[in-house]
Amino acid sequence: MDLELEPSLESIITQDSLKWIFVGGKGGVGKTTTSSSVAVQLALAHPNDQFLLISTDPAHNLSDAFCQKFGKDARPVEGLSNLSCMEIDPEAAMSDLQQQAQQYNNDPNDPLKSMMSDMTGSIPGIDEALSFMEVLKHIKNQKASTNDSNEKNEAISYKTIIFDTAPTGHTLRFLQLPATLEKLLSKFKDLSGKLGPMLNMLGGGQQQDMFGKLNEIQVQVAEVNEQFTNPDLTTFICVCISEFLSLYETERMIQELMSYNMDVNSIVVNQLLFAEGDESSCKRCESRWKMQKKYLDQMGELYEDYHLVKMPLLGCEIRGIENLKKFSKFLIKPYDPKTDGGLLLAPIDSGIFIIMARGNQRDLARAKNLKKQQENQKNQKKSGDPSKRMESDADKMRRKQAEADARKAADAANGRKK
Ligand SMILES: Nc1ncnc2c1ncn2[C@@H]1O[C@H](COP(=O)(O)OP(=O)(O)OP(=O)(O)O)[C@@H](O)[C@H]1O
Ligand SMILES: [Mg+2]
Ligand SMILES: [Zn+2]
Repeated sequence: MDLELEPSLESIITQDSLKWIFVGGKGGVGKTTTSSSVAVQLALAHPNDQFLLISTDPAHNLSDAFCQKFGKDARPVEGLSNLSCMEIDPEAAMSDLQQQAQQYNNDPNDPLKSMMSDMTGSIPGIDEALSFMEVLKHIKNQKASTNDSNEKNEAISYKTIIFDTAPTGHTLRFLQLPATLEKLLSKFKDLSGKLGPMLNMLGGGQQQDMFGKLNEIQVQVAEVNEQFTNPDLTTFICVCISEFLSLYETERMIQELMSYNMDVNSIVVNQLLFAEGDESSCKRCESRWKMQKKYLDQMGELYEDYHLVKMPLLGCEIRGIENLKKFSKFLIKPYDPKTDGGLLLAPIDSGIFIIMARGNQRDLARAKNLKKQQENQKNQKKSGDPSKRMESDADKMRRKQAEADARKAADAANGRKK
């Protein structure tokens, strides 16, 4: 048997049992492009099955990638009817329990306060877990939108669900939760037994309520955990670029995922220049390609038992279903600069989607967020939720850009008239 796995995602696309595919990596490396490409290839390979691509990143960009507006409910992709997308606001997916816990935190005299903040604060992953459970619930409830008979309004069953994860890297921290939750619950039982009478005086009903919910969550978390650590059902695709820092971060991510017992056997190396023997490439591209090759070689050695997929850096953004179809082919059939070098992407419709955040705008938004976060940390003020801030920043950014584009368009129109 050959030790090296083939440099493509073909086995993931054809593997029939996979229910969950996570795509992750640091900011800007191409997670959204890759997860969209994986979803497109899956949908093309299994025309009789339904697929769902989900973003839980507050700075959503599935809409940007597909040039089509998506929202919190699954909506079919125009031009690929067996693929749907949804962009879920993790903030809105906050569970009752989280909300309750937050209210608790507002009352400084409540004896349960420290326990509640223990529960939702100091336990890494509980927030993610709660939000994630809500997301799963939401997926389960998706109804077929094209169902005209109002009697059988059944939920759609998706063959595979693909997650475009946020670049925070902690998306899956909650996979370590079951053990932690168990500890916490027994502590909670203990305490509420001892403090029972007193707690009853201080709104015991709510406490009972919460206790029941915690138990329920523990069961759910354990169930989800079992699925996500089963390599027949779940896999994780790492996306990176061929640079030192990205290589280092990828290794860290793989270590972390392995500590959660999650299956990782594919790495997509994106944005490769393939500048060899390419007449159109300049000195800069050539020397950059040299550097990329150096790290590619290292990865080849480090990850010989992984599917190491090499994706080309194209001359422009990869947006729209037609372009995603073209690009995503190279996930299956490795890119060959000799024969594939002339690949041309279709021009993007200059409709309303030009107003969505573009690459550089996203960088600006990211830089702004970072600055804000740093300022907030400096002030040690915990006002507001970071994901809420990010969301509203992304919104502001989009609005600003829409305004700028509208102005530009108006100027252009005026210019033409004159
Ligand atoms: N191989 C490639 N060739 C050309 N452009 C690419 C390639 N991969 C990604 N891009 C472009 O780079 C930009 C960022 O890619 P993408 O949105 O997929 O990254 P991301 O990792 O999801 O970013 P974020 O961390 O902001 O979510 C997009 O405009 C995308 O079209
Ligand atoms: Mg993204
Ligand atoms: Zn060049």
